[in-house]
Amino acid sequence: MTVATPVSSDLDLFADEVLLDPYPYFAELREQAPVVHLEKAGIWALTRHSTIREALGNWAVFSSRSVAFNDQMNQALAGTSLATDPPDHQRLRSVLSERLMPRAVRGLQEDIDAKADAMVAELVERGSFDAVTDLASALPLAVVADLIGVQGEVRDNMLRWGAAAQNVLGPMNPRTVENFPVAGQLFQWAHNAQAEELAEGSMGRAIFDAAERGEIPPESAGMIIHQYVAAGLDTTIAGIGNAIAQLAANPDQFDLLRADRSLLASTFAEALRYEAPIHAMGRLVTEDVEIEGTLVPAGAQVAVLFGSGNRDSRRYEDPDTFLARRNPLDHLSFGYGVHGCAGQALARLEAHAVLDALARRVRRFTIGQPERRPHNEIRSLYALPVVEVDPA
Ligand code: HEM
Repeated sequence: MTVATPVSSDLDLFADEVLLDPYPYFAELREQAPVVHLEKAGIWALTRHSTIREALGNWAVFSSRSVAFNDQMNQALAGTSLATDPPDHQRLRSVLSERLMPRAVRGLQEDIDAKADAMVAELVERGSFDAVTDLASALPLAVVADLIGVQGEVRDNMLRWGAAAQNVLGPMNPRTVENFPVAGQLFQWAHNAQAEELAEGSMGRAIFDAAERGEIPPESAGMIIHQYVAAGLDTTIAGIGNAIAQLAANPDQFDLLRADRSLLASTFAEALRYEAPIHAMGRLVTEDVEIEGTLVPAGAQVAVLFGSGNRDSRRYEDPDTFLARRNPLDHLSFGYGVHGCAGQALARLEAHAVLDALARRVRRFTIGQPERRPHNEIRSLYALPVVEVDPA
């Protein structure tokens, strides 16, 4: 084996301009090498589709002990499925994933479809609205709040808590520091909640009752509720908002979906490929590893760039074009391997419900200027004004 000098760059992955439009930076890194040493931060970025899949599939070398880019969060996450390697990982994941398997969430479909349809019907009637606030955020918030069984103040805090819980995964930049107290409020609430606070008949109530009966470890109930808000809210909001933005920007692709709603799954997969909701996830290299001739040393902090792998022309033809028919089943936005997203069936139910209602009820929608704000971890729209709707 010939070990090459690592390719390096002085890019700050978490700078505002990179977070607002990462693709030109990703393209540059990707063309430089499959792994690039970001010297200033001391991070090794994985840039290509095949490299990312291989690393995510190799949990023994690419450990999840440093999924976050700061030590404080990595310590706080210890003991969650997200930050634990096998063999302990499976036990931690199963407590949560049991309730998120496709067959477990199937029972929610009717309710989620009805919620999405009612929202879209009301918005079409209104004629102009914000597709992020009124739809992409409103649906996941309603779904997750009802699943957990909360109303009032807790529900009002959930969007703020969810965004903060993701922001603190970044490096110790001002965004992370500012968000620590807010993320702490979510942690405190979730871990101190009592069964009686949650609506009767809700999944949240059932989980806390199960903990009280000793069927699951007492700390698991809080952990599960925490994950629904921290992992299940902002990610889904980003996925749905980005999908609506792409359909508005590409009316020909929206027409394809309107004409053939069996393209729903393909359209949402393509939206996730085109805009990965999670900017970067970390990994800790446990032993010296060679990636296509470059030695990455034991102890290195890696950044897995899902959005870069998703736009890799080695894997996808014409990767910067949004194609509703592409059906990119191996996109990286839900991760891959043992940590592959545990909530993807629920996320799909929500997104398909929104896109289906739009495709049935809207012929054309015209949007104003979409607004993004930098966020350390989530690539989401902050606002997407719909200025005119032509009903179907
Ligand atoms: C479009 C929406 C979503 C996206 C893009 C997304 C993305 C991801 C990604 C990339 C991972 C892998 C992280 C890693 O490898 O380190 C992950 C894991 C996870 N996701 Fe999601 N997610 C979404 C929705 C949800 C929802 C609705 C839930 C429900 C609570 C959820 C719960 C989880 C959990 C618990 C894990 C950790 C699994 C494990 O470590 O075994 N996600 N997600």
